[in-house]
Amino acid sequence: MASVANVDDGGAASEPRAEPVAAAPEITIDTAAASGDAFAAPESGPDDVPATGPAAVAAELAARPLPRIIAIANQKGGVGKTTTAVNLGAALAELGYRVLVVDLDPQGNATTGLGVNARNLEVSIYDVIMHDAPLEDCIEPTSLRNLFVAPATIDLAGAEIELVPAFSRELKLRRALEHVAGEWDFTLIDCPPSLGLLTVNGLAAAGEVLVPIQCEYYALEGLGQLLRNVNLVTSNLNPRLELGAIVLTMYDARTKLAEQVASEVRTHFGDKVCRSVVPRTVRLSEAPSFGQPVIVFDSSSRGSVAYRELAKEVSGGAPQRTG
Ligand SMILES: Nc1ncnc2c1ncn2[C@@H]1O[C@H](COP(=O)(O)OP(=O)(O)OP(=O)(O)O)[C@@H](O)[C@H]1O
Ligand SMILES: [Mg+2]
Repeated sequence: MASVANVDDGGAASEPRAEPVAAAPEITIDTAAASGDAFAAPESGPDDVPATGPAAVAAELAARPLPRIIAIANQKGGVGKTTTAVNLGAALAELGYRVLVVDLDPQGNATTGLGVNARNLEVSIYDVIMHDAPLEDCIEPTSLRNLFVAPATIDLAGAEIELVPAFSRELKLRRALEHVAGEWDFTLIDCPPSLGLLTVNGLAAAGEVLVPIQCEYYALEGLGQLLRNVNLVTSNLNPRLELGAIVLTMYDARTKLAEQVASEVRTHFGDKVCRSVVPRTVRLSEAPSFGQPVIVFDSSSRGSVAYRELAKEVSGGAPQRTG
């Protein structure tokens, strides 16, 4: 299908290639789980998804005014949230935007993936959320000039519990970001794989949610719950929050399964799904161990190309600065 044609496997020769899967087994997606109101593709049912969907999402996304705060969320683990936060952030920074990645996951993968050693930190996002430390006190530079990270340490694991009795516990991150509003064109919040208070803080602070979906079995499992939570946050805490986009990740063009999942997701979510699809590529999984975004680690790799495309789609291209 045209929408995934840009991720065929004709990319970097240096990347090892697995054997093609001979026949894709029958696809199993819990589509019922994804029936939350929020993402029910508004005016279109599965049979009348507009052919112009992907272009529509690009135009709609790109038209959003700066500064933008995007929560990258999916309570399913290992779907590409952190990889997307780091690499979309890097590609936006390369375009010329000032980008802050907020690591809201105690695993600290975005922190290490951006080359920051959590052991050397005096202040982290934990201090910002639990002790009202100013956000700017914890911000660290990265290997890219316009890209910064608010790092996480394992202390943050305690915050899920320590936050429970706290006053305005859902709004800690929002308050912290309000103090630096305007400093950043894009703030990308890497949420943990849960729907707990940290993710709620991420959603309450954001203007939009970006949901990565892995092109694998059970891709939509749990999505309904995520979307219901987004609705709850929108109605109770943050009316500005919008469902931004779905990004298909780890797409393997050699398998029928990936194509089936991608097509299923597009059928259900129509123009919420980004045209750019992130391929499964070894370079993307290697880059974090070097503390680098993929565009620094291997600038011409397929992962770099994909995240550059996604950055253009999300932002509309390089910033138009006046004055
Ligand atoms: N497109 C890709 N191609 C190959 N490997 C990928 C790709 N995207 C992510 N990975 C790898 O898959 C694993 C999970 O990705 P990632 O950490 O981004 O997911 P996550 O949703 O943030 O996980 P968690 O829920 O644990 O926070 C990582 O090892 C990452 O390097
Ligand atoms: Mg992660």
